[in-house]
Amino acid sequence: MPDTQIFIFDTTLRDGEQVPGCKLNTTEKLIIAKELERLGVDVIEAGFPISSPGDFKSVTEICKLVNEPVVCGLSRAVEKDIKVAAEALVHAKRPRIHTGIGTSESHIRFKLQTTPEKIIERAVAAVAYAKRFVEDVEFYAEDAGRTDNVFLARVIEAVIKAGATVLNIPDTTGYCLPHEYGEKIKFLKENVKGIDKAIISTHCHNDLGLATANSIAGLQNGARQVECTINGIGERAGNTSLEEVVMIIKQHPGLELYNRINSKLLCPLSDMVSEKMGVVVQPNKAIVGANAFAHSSGIHQDGVIKKRETYEIIDPKDVGADQSKIVLTARSGRAAIAYRAKEIGYNLTKLELDRVYSNFLLVADNKKEVNDQDLFVILKEQNVQGVSATA
Ligand code: KIV
Ligand code: ZN
Repeated sequence: MPDTQIFIFDTTLRDGEQVPGCKLNTTEKLIIAKELERLGVDVIEAGFPISSPGDFKSVTEICKLVNEPVVCGLSRAVEKDIKVAAEALVHAKRPRIHTGIGTSESHIRFKLQTTPEKIIERAVAAVAYAKRFVEDVEFYAEDAGRTDNVFLARVIEAVIKAGATVLNIPDTTGYCLPHEYGEKIKFLKENVKGIDKAIISTHCHNDLGLATANSIAGLQNGARQVECTINGIGERAGNTSLEEVVMIIKQHPGLELYNRINSKLLCPLSDMVSEKMGVVVQPNKAIVGANAFAHSSGIHQDGVIKKRETYEIIDPKDVGADQSKIVLTARSGRAAIAYRAKEIGYNLTKLELDRVYSNFLLVADNKKEVNDQDLFVILKEQNVQGVSATA
């Protein structure tokens, strides 16, 4: 059987931009949108048009700019929202309205103060209204992660009948465990009439650090679209990180899934988003963090120098990272020192390496990281001639 295509829905410019202090202006959004198109995302969620005139303008301009991806505008299940989203999307080559409503008990009783029956009515009315403007309508069942599966199935069946083309099942609060989220998708696949007419989408938040695991569980149980952001940014603890999902799919052919992303652009785009939003990527972030391909303990360094794959499951070139880094610290061993000395032009003999190593440890115990300049000074102090590696 051929592998199944997974559609990558990027919401960096909508859910990602909800991060406090991450506001982007229209020019910055346009630059990122063009890069997302180059990256190969299938859908760009460009914004929430009714939320502000600035967001409306950004969505409009992104529609004019990009050609390939579907451009999506968010709305609540409210006619005015939907109409404004449709207006913002008029120039899109492939427009999609994303509308929805809360379906969990907490949303129904406390936030919306209504009844389950009224929720179904409002969901159906919103989808039907959105269909007047565009063919492609995605419905989100907000807080689906904490929604009773039987009720969720009723809502989903009703919106499919009303014409929804994509069904977003958000774990809005990041509460689900991977097996629960996977079972939720499976339950919908098995119990909703007409489910095969639409695409099921995951949208997982990271409050318990499970967003990526939950999204993958969703895909393993029949979801065909993943909603995610560059660097995993988003409301509170963030969304599923695009780079993680893409590389999991790539590194695990056994999943029998594929997507259109050019993974070599992941690190450059991560840097661009981080710089434009002013949000530093944590160094130990999977795939795109500064330390994702850095090795500092002697045991690991020795293994990587002999064969990179010993401690790296991803080739840094595949994600556009410079190269594997051998970082010299007090935990480093002789192999790493010999390797880095060679990089700066010294082929050390075994005796020279022994001399340098003791001196290196004294320096390393006082410094977090021994850089090339420090190493050069140590080599000079020890009168190391070496055999010039460049000679
Ligand atoms: O997390 C969520 O439920 C959302 C919806 C608006 C799709 O972002
Ligand atoms: Zn969200």
